[in-house]
Amino acid sequence: MRRAIYPGSFDPITNGHLDLIERAARLFDEVIVAVLINPAKTPLFTVEERVEMIREVIRSPQVRVDTFDGLLVEYARRVGAQVIIRGIRAISDYEYEFQMALMNRRLDPTIETIFMMPAEPYTYLSSRLVKEVCALGGDVAGVVPPGVERRMREKLFGKA
Ligand SMILES: Nc1ncnc2c1ncn2[C@@H]1O[C@H](COP(=O)(O)OP(=O)(O)O)[C@@H](O)[C@H]1O
Ligand SMILES: [Mg+2]
Repeated sequence: MRRAIYPGSFDPITNGHLDLIERAARLFDEVIVAVLINPAKTPLFTVEERVEMIREVIRSPQVRVDTFDGLLVEYARRVGAQVIIRGIRAISDYEYEFQMALMNRRLDPTIETIFMMPAEPYTYLSSRLVKEVCALGGDVAGVVPPGVERRMREKLFGKA
């Protein structure tokens, strides 16, 4: 049983995240999308809302959603995952991801980090940018699922 975890903030999930989830689902028996509970960050959506939005858009039966806090490698061990999936967009992602991957390897050499690239139209996409554009009244259709777009408008403008 090859099981991978895909950890992140997913505040909110974008079509870039989804692209990666679908690619990973073709490679592993089970993919767990793991939403990080991070009290240090001030997210737009609660963890529960983020989990709900992810559940609404995942299609593959071998993908499930979970939450975690604490050390990622400990969570991976607990759920029996051999692989951590992370996305690489531009060069700017590289340094931080490289540090994290090597630190996680130090903490548990049996868990492998795998980097995946999204389809080209999503390489510029981040949750942060999507939130900024939406807050300024810009159109985010096509970069987030429709349900996410609706919830973002509700959250930012209190309905619409
Ligand atoms: N558009 C995208 N295409 C591919 N990977 C992405 C995209 N947006 C984010 N990712 C990747 O998804 C993972 C989770 O991202 P994110 O939700 O921003 O959480 P984090 O707080 O861990 O960065 C990271 O590995 C990130 O590089
Ligand atoms: Mg990020």
